[in-house]
Amino acid sequence: MDASNLDALTRDALDYFLFPLASKEEIRTQGPMIFTSSDGMEITDAGGKTYLDMMSCHTRAGSLGYGQERIARAIYDQLVSLHYAGTIANVVDVTVNLSARMADLAPGSLTSTVFAGSGSEANEMSIKLARQYHIAKGDKPHAHKVISRWNAYHGATMGAIGCTDYLGTRAITEPGVPGYSRVPAPNLYRTPFGMDPSEVCDYCVDFLEQHIVHEGPEMVSAFIAEPVMQGDGVQVPPDDYFARVREVCDKYDVMLIGDEVITGFGRCGYWFALEHWGVECDIMSTAKAITAGYFPLGASTVTRKVADMLPAFTHIQTYNGHPGACAAAMATIDILESENLIERGRETGAYFLDRMQRLRDLPVVGDVRGLGMWTCIDFTVDKKTKAPFTDDTVKAITRRMADLGVLGGEEGTAIEFGPALVASREDVDRCVDVAEQAIREVMADRNLA
Ligand SMILES: Cc1ncc(COP(=O)(O)O)c(C=O)c1O
Repeated sequence: MDASNLDALTRDALDYFLFPLASKEEIRTQGPMIFTSSDGMEITDAGGKTYLDMMSCHTRAGSLGYGQERIARAIYDQLVSLHYAGTIANVVDVTVNLSARMADLAPGSLTSTVFAGSGSEANEMSIKLARQYHIAKGDKPHAHKVISRWNAYHGATMGAIGCTDYLGTRAITEPGVPGYSRVPAPNLYRTPFGMDPSEVCDYCVDFLEQHIVHEGPEMVSAFIAEPVMQGDGVQVPPDDYFARVREVCDKYDVMLIGDEVITGFGRCGYWFALEHWGVECDIMSTAKAITAGYFPLGASTVTRKVADMLPAFTHIQTYNGHPGACAAAMATIDILESENLIERGRETGAYFLDRMQRLRDLPVVGDVRGLGMWTCIDFTVDKKTKAPFTDDTVKAITRRMADLGVLGGEEGTAIEFGPALVASREDVDRCVDVAEQAIREVMADRNLA
């Protein structure tokens, strides 16, 4: 694209497009990132610069990289064959086929799925399913409260944002929907109140139990949690955490909602991340990588017990289970299976985390962590206190990496990498080398050595 067209495109972006979350000032000073083409692991901007994308389309949705013709063709074929047939009792065969496929893939007795268009809507449905389950069962007909965790992210719609804490998006919607509250999350680097990491699991599980008791177990419908939290970068919980959460939820008949919107479909080395700890939730939300980013789709999958209890799921959206989206998901799953990408992602992810360990020697790197193809570098001004940077240093390192041709994601105190599962060891090597170079350069610029 020549310079005048690029200028015009940038001007139009500033004048006519409302950028979600990014401040106008940032967009004006840093410029929007406008992309025009892609191939495999690479994406090219309107100025002709090509980047290695280590964030799967910024949101970790693009889990199969760019240019997957098989998915594009599946969507096309579906749309010309039967693009849509409505909702309520109307359904297209591909949507039923995807439901059955979800039942095969999902752990344990998670069997029945309802589809919508995004992760937020998936959580919205999961929260409503939990509530309707209690009403139908009759033991806790008034159970409506939902407990989530400090620094959680569950979406942008009013129900999902009620249990969200991260990104500062909730405040502007408050007072919001009543009935939401939060408990500490089991972060192991910056632990709750600076406690020893060995105390974190007990503390968080006991806190959850006490919180349920204080809210009134008969009023608590669900506990919702990301298996690995994104807030401040890839928070992998202690090994026992989810098994013990499961016990507490069972004790008080509280539905455990696993928000696998990021972690589902291979991100953490398993089809679904809770499998890593052998824990089954009652209701599972998925989105993003369910279609590898080729079509919007969200899903809420419930156990047989929940599905059988409900006389109907009282919920309707025009596009529940859009055939184009379901065709994209079927093709995505075909590719994941035929190319053995869950296992490959797990292996490449382990290699990635291993390669990142050397960054710990840098004075500003406090922690590196990850699970599967999801890793991060957490930064600190002081390795003893683990205090985070309060200026724009983490942003500057992320930008420097982009200047050097590698896209990572600034994630609060950390930089995160969630590459496509097709990423190679060479991609990983380049990412770690560029991260090191960017950190060293920003340290030198800012006298941080
Ligand atoms: C864990 C989690 N849940 C839910 C959502 C919301 O999904 P969406 O943005 O598709 O509405 C996100 C989005 O990033 C997420 O990370």
